[in-house]
Amino acid sequence: MAKRTRRALITLALIILGLLATAPATFADVDPAWLASWQEAQKQRPKRLLTSGRIASAEEPGSPLVILGLVLNPDGSPAAGVAVHAYHRDSAGYEFGKDDKASKTWRLQGWAETDSVGVFRFETIRPAADHLGREPGHIHFTLESEKFGRQWAPKVFFADDPQVSTALRKKSDKAGDLGNVRAVKVVDEVQTVGVRFKLKRKADF
Ligand SMILES: [Fe+2]
Repeated sequence: MAKRTRRALITLALIILGLLATAPATFADVDPAWLASWQEAQKQRPKRLLTSGRIASAEEPGSPLVILGLVLNPDGSPAAGVAVHAYHRDSAGYEFGKDDKASKTWRLQGWAETDSVGVFRFETIRPAADHLGREPGHIHFTLESEKFGRQWAPKVFFADDPQVSTALRKKSDKAGDLGNVRAVKVVDEVQTVGVRFKLKRKADF
């Protein structure tokens, strides 16, 4: 191949890669079942989000859990004004209510918004493992930033949970401060888990 042709092809490939990297993410990239739950969830979204939100109500069966969160910008600075959506299974391991069929969206879910130093908080209960045994207890988070769009944060698991695999723990250790297997501490007699996320430069959907 002539040198000039090869150079032109490489340039073209770089342009295409560049376009792909900056192409806006769309709903087409999202699992349809997840998207249906997400869209249904929007109907429950409060008009005004507060730094502290609730996922499970105070009456929900299960051990109370407090989530203390920090969201960082891609450059590591605190990310203020980020909307945080969180959901998880109940104490029986169901996501959509009785037999996982009762609700069109996650039964236990809530919203909060990060304050000026990137902090948010949720009160909830500790989720059980999937009732079919597919996954240990965990919490899902979606972040919405004006600047970096809508994106998924890694699922958060609990370090004191024997069902969390060695592979998951190793991967989390590798991520350091941003690891997603998080220690649970008892603060004022309530289980408390600290979570930390860093926004990506690009939206997921
Ligand atoms: Fe899940």
